Parts: sequence; structure tokens; C-alpha cells
Amino acid sequence: MAGQGQAHKGGKDEEARLRELVAKHERWRAHDCLNLLASENLSSPTVQRYLASDLSRRYTLPLAQTLHGEKVDNGYAGTRFTDEIEALAARSASRLLHGRYASVRPLSGHVASMCVLAPLLPRGARYLAVQPDDGGYDGYAPGFLPAVLGHNVLPLPLHGLTHRADLDEIATLLHRDRPEAIVLGQSFVLFPYPLREIAEVAHEVGALVLYDASHVLGLTMGGEFQDPLREGADVAFGSTHKTLFGPQGGLLVTDREDLFQQMDAALTWRILDNAHWNRIAGLGQALLEMERIGPRYASTVVANSRALAKAMDEEGFPVVGKSEGYTASHQVHLDGAEMRRRYGIGPAGLARRLEEQDLIIDLVGRVGTAEATRLGLRPRDMPKVAGLLRQAGLDRKDVRRSVRLLRRRFRSMTFT
Ligand SMILES: Cc1ncc(COP(=O)(O)O)c(C=O)c1O
Repeated sequence: MAGQGQAHKGGKDEEARLRELVAKHERWRAHDCLNLLASENLSSPTVQRYLASDLSRRYTLPLAQTLHGEKVDNGYAGTRFTDEIEALAARSASRLLHGRYASVRPLSGHVASMCVLAPLLPRGARYLAVQPDDGGYDGYAPGFLPAVLGHNVLPLPLHGLTHRADLDEIATLLHRDRPEAIVLGQSFVLFPYPLREIAEVAHEVGALVLYDASHVLGLTMGGEFQDPLREGADVAFGSTHKTLFGPQGGLLVTDREDLFQQMDAALTWRILDNAHWNRIAGLGQALLEMERIGPRYASTVVANSRALAKAMDEEGFPVVGKSEGYTASHQVHLDGAEMRRRYGIGPAGLARRLEEQDLIIDLVGRVGTAEATRLGLRPRDMPKVAGLLRQAGLDRKDVRRSVRLLRRRFRSMTFT
């Protein structure tokens, strides 16, 4: 298991094995498989180049302090270029999310949540958040982030298989419970919230509106999903590697100087120390690419997921949300209970069957189109993809050759 060491030394055999594992993984996942995981994406060659750059080994601590009686503005020497790299990435994040203050330092989406929740909400504070049964992120369930940070989470209910928010119900909860914050954002996300209306009520009762955009960040930045800060959220934050095609990491953006100061103060020595500057250079590149091609990329992702949802529906998959147009995001959802009723197999069993055939989807009934879009697949290609999913997942046919042929047609990255 992970981390369980043997008593003997690693040696050359294990180095060779490690090399082989990385090569096999790369061959399989990057070249042979069609990846339809909703939380993954491809980064451009320039992003990958920056990730492997010298920055991956360096420190910087751009903090004014007095060391042995001398005033310094950085705790390290050799940082001549690093701080400008960070500033450049943060400026791009600010422009894309329409807020004046940004940090690109959080190491992941989960860490970004901590960087927002820990400094803004005191221990004992209560916040409303969507729970996993309604499509929410597991991290906001009571035993996880709330337990670690000493907060109390109140469930924010959503409805139906498409997880719709009921504004009256949310308004009632906000007035009744008067929480310190409402955290909006889901792992299963098909449609935007009525954010303006929710934010209006939340602000009336003094609650902060914290928007976890992890899944939809690239769509939001491309103008294809809701624009949280303009619609009333106080802070927008999340992962940088799902629909945004950056390296794995996190960011946060706000238009409020007071909130930014609190969050920024928590970044150094409370939640983070060094912030991985190669990742930040890669993220800066991805953000600048997003400024250039965002609208075309994001609208193609959503057009692809709608086309895939329709095609999968036509192939007999129980796709959620037909009467609502299936989806307005990068995700397509399957109704797990209906899947079992029709075919005697749930989403996890389906994903395992598909994996055998080099088709990768979530084990939780979620299919995503961001990576396929980057590879150049378009709505006209989605009936082919749905057909492969049907043959491999429901008819149990061997489609590996067809998947490889498809991947051969879509080998190079688009939108770079
Ligand atoms: C809504 C939401 N927030 C946060 C996270 C955590 O993101 P990360 O994996 O970047 O830590 C996820 C992960 O899927 C998520 O769906």
C-alpha cells in the first residue's frame, strides 16, 4: 500500500520499475485511452514545459520583514524573476474572474477552500454548503473540512437529479439560521445557481457568499457559465485543472480588499509556506491561453457535453435532465438507479467495464468533455463516442481497436 516500505534498499530494479510504470501510464492514459473524466484536462506543451522548469526546485518568500535588524522584502535571494511570474499569473486570474485581488498560491482546489474558509470564518462559525448526496463536494461534509477548521456545516438542499436550487427554501434557511456564510459549488454540476438572488438574501442576513468554482472555472473564465463575482459572490475559488486547463493547483479571487487581506495573511505560514513556482508559471500560461481562446474553448466544451448527453440518451443510457436540455456544463450525468434497473449494472460497474476498453469515466455516473474537447472532438463526433460507450459498457464488446483508431484521429491538442 502507499507508503509501506520494505526493509531492503530500493536499488536499480525499483528505479527501472518506476521508469516502466511512468512510461506505461503515459502510453495508456495519454495516448491509448479516451479520457472522459469530468475532473481532468490536458495542459498545453508550454504549461508542461514550465512545470518541468528550474522553478520546480526554488523558494521565494515575498514578505516584508526585519531580519537581524535589516529590512528585507523577500526571505530568499535569487528570486529576481519569480515574484514577477506570480504577479503576472495573479493579474490574469483577476481579469478572467473580474475581481481586483487574486492569489494563485493554493496548492489545490481543496487547499483553496481552506485558504478561504479558515481565515474568513472563525472557529465555531456556521455555513451552509451543498452536501454530497445533492452533488456537493465531499470536503464540505461534516467530518472533513468543517471538522478540520472547527466550523459547523448546515446542509444546503438541492432538488431532483439535476440538483436544482430552490430560492425560497434557501432564503428561508438563511433567515432562520443566519449562518456566517453560504458556500456554493458542486462536484456534480449541470446548471448554474440563481446566484444574484441568493447573494442578495445572503448579504441581507450578513452571510458571505463563497463560490467554489472548482469544476466550472474554465467555463466561467470562457464566459460560458455563471460569473460569480459579478453575480454577487464575495470570493470565487477552486481547482485550476478541471475545466481550466492548468496544472493541478488552486486559486482564489475577490473584489473585496478587506477579505483579500485576511486570506492573504493566512497564506504564509498558516496554510502554506512555499507555493510551487513552476506550477504558478504553468498556471500563468494556462490563464493567458484562456484569455486568448477561452470563449471558443468553453462554448465547444458545453456544445460537446450537450451532444454527448443526447447521443448517450439515444444509445439507451439513462441520462439525467433531458427536459432541461441535459446540461449547461462540461458534465453529463447518469441516473445510477435507473441504470441498475435497466441493465443490472451501476455506474461503478459500467466504469470498470469501460476502463477495460480504454474508455475512462467516473465511477459515480459522471462523464466529462473537457479533455476530449482539447483533443479536437466536436459535437459531430459525439454519436461515435456514445456508440463506443454503448458497445463497450452495455453490449460488452471489445472496442479497443476502435478507441485507438479514434485517438489516432485526435492526437494533437487544440485551443493552445
Ligand atoms: C467542488 C469541488 N471543490 C473542491 C475540490 C477539490 O479539488 P482538488 O482536487 O483540486 O483539491 C473538488 C474536487 O473534485 C470539487 O469537486
